[in-house]
Amino acid sequence: MSDFSTRVILWQRKHGRHGLPWQGADAYRVWLSEIMLQQTQVATVIPYYQRFVASFPSVSALAAASMDEVLAHWSGLGYYARGRNLHRAAQIIADKHQGEFPREFEQILDLPGIGRSTAAAICALAYHERRAILDGNVKRVLARYCGISGSTIDKKIEEQMWQQAELLLPKDQSPRPARVRGGLDSSISTYTQALMDMGATICTRSKPKCELCPVHSDCVALQSNRVAVLPPPRARKTVPEKHTTFLLLLHGNDILLEKRPPQGIWGGMWCLPQIEDGSGVVDDYLQIAGMEVSERIELEEFTHTFTHFKLHIVPVLLRVACKPDQVQQGGSEWMDLQEALRAGIPAPVRSLLQKLQS
Ligand code: ADE
Repeated sequence: MSDFSTRVILWQRKHGRHGLPWQGADAYRVWLSEIMLQQTQVATVIPYYQRFVASFPSVSALAAASMDEVLAHWSGLGYYARGRNLHRAAQIIADKHQGEFPREFEQILDLPGIGRSTAAAICALAYHERRAILDGNVKRVLARYCGISGSTIDKKIEEQMWQQAELLLPKDQSPRPARVRGGLDSSISTYTQALMDMGATICTRSKPKCELCPVHSDCVALQSNRVAVLPPPRARKTVPEKHTTFLLLLHGNDILLEKRPPQGIWGGMWCLPQIEDGSGVVDDYLQIAGMEVSERIELEEFTHTFTHFKLHIVPVLLRVACKPDQVQQGGSEWMDLQEALRAGIPAPVRSLLQKLQS
């Protein structure tokens, strides 16, 4: 039987995902795709990726853009710290590396938002360097293949997995990349893509398709009937629940948006004015803002789930007779609905504005 990496590479050539827009692309595009693909599926990422590279075709173009423009392109993808870090990293590359995406692993690892696995993926996919990756999907593949039963978030287990990931790499030290489909292919880039694709399409958390897996014959979990219990699921913490009121302040076709402070949830994004402690103090807000309301409709409550908490949102639609001056300062802006939908707004704000529009 051929070794792990050979079988995995052959599987990728025949059954893996091909023609993804970042495959065979330069380091900047590979970096962008890897960041977008953290916590987000390929099908969701593709249109965001394409719009992003069309607007910011190089690191320098990204560095020169405003944070607002970058967040507008990220709007709806979630985990906005990724977009903020990407922009910061582009500015560091512009300052420190003359706008050229760095060539060395350590320099890449130094950039904000890039951890060990992402830096390794960029080096393997864009520079054809022999480096191991270990993202969430790959951890699952290795936990099963090697029969590692400890929790993958335990530091010792994680270190053991890194060692396994290194041991399983294709042996050839200096693969010569071949030109394919307009990009470059090497055993290490194919191998890296294969692990990601196997994790996403075969070795899934539930209902894995072991019969299609190129390494099932020596998968420890399969052989010992432990696929369903490896890796052990994370203990589910009960997430805190918070309540908030979103104010949809409308004047004609204009809506009032507020820019959130740069740090924290939705940092730097345009949001609706929010009242954290429920709906009782809407009137106080209106009075302080000097707004007279001609129509008030409480819309249906909905819930937005973040990684660390649940946010229950009560949207209140308020038609105001005139725009008071004071709210135009301090990060608040009246925007035409069309303009607001093009700004950096988070998904729940987007869906509310879309409802308003229709
Ligand atoms: N997930 C993370 N990186 C990926 C890639 N390059 N292709 C597909 N899915 C991925």
